Amino acid sequence: MEPKSFILENTALTAPPLVPEIRLHLATEVVPLWRKTEEELEAEGVPPPYWAFAWAGGQALARYVLDHPDIVRGKNVLDFGSGSGLVAIAAKQAGAARVLAADIDAFAAAAIELNAQANDVAIDVTRDDVIGRAGAWQSVLVGDMCYERPLAERLIAWLKALGAPVLLGDPGRSYFPKSGIEKLATFRVQTTRELEDREIRETGVYRLC
Ligand SMILES: C[S@@+](CC[C@H](N)C(=O)[O-])C[C@H]1O[C@@H](n2cnc3c(N)ncnc32)[C@H](O)[C@@H]1O
Repeated sequence: MEPKSFILENTALTAPPLVPEIRLHLATEVVPLWRKTEEELEAEGVPPPYWAFAWAGGQALARYVLDHPDIVRGKNVLDFGSGSGLVAIAAKQAGAARVLAADIDAFAAAAIELNAQANDVAIDVTRDDVIGRAGAWQSVLVGDMCYERPLAERLIAWLKALGAPVLLGDPGRSYFPKSGIEKLATFRVQTTRELEDREIRETGVYRLC
């Protein structure tokens, strides 16, 4: 199915609880997306819709960036694993000169474009796997990406080697690094039982040291 049509048919324009100033095409309890089984989605040619949810790590990081615009103001920013584009949109709203949202999922890329449009900001989008690449980014933002060991290990090694300032939002995922980080803030993020094991997740924003 064509990604943009699928997104528009299966989501509602909603503000994530911690970031009321940004509206995204998200699955909600009133929209059937998350009630579909994985097999149903696979039959429709749709990968798991990570882009349809504002993950706790992304919500905390977007809130932090909006409240501390100096982190991105006038800078060339990368939002890695952008999903819905929430963090990328927050960076642009906070005054970033240029934001690249990277996500390998075609549906996420389409969602980022629709969500950027809905919030009237310009975001560049790439579906390339940028891990391992050099980039002229002056600020790198990473929301909720430490949920799988191989991905988290590859990602953190690359981020450490990049040389750019890196901020991460994380609600205590299993493969989030235990050292080499400094906590900057904690948020209590409202999420949904359809995806998480509790309704409120305490979520940190960290600087990679
Ligand atoms: C848990 S979601 C986080 C989305 C968003 N950052 C947030 O916090 O709401 C993880 C996202 O990472 C993307 N992803 C996974 N591996 C990736 C890779 N190697 N490069 C870029 N994106 C990737 C997935 O497609 C998915 O959209």
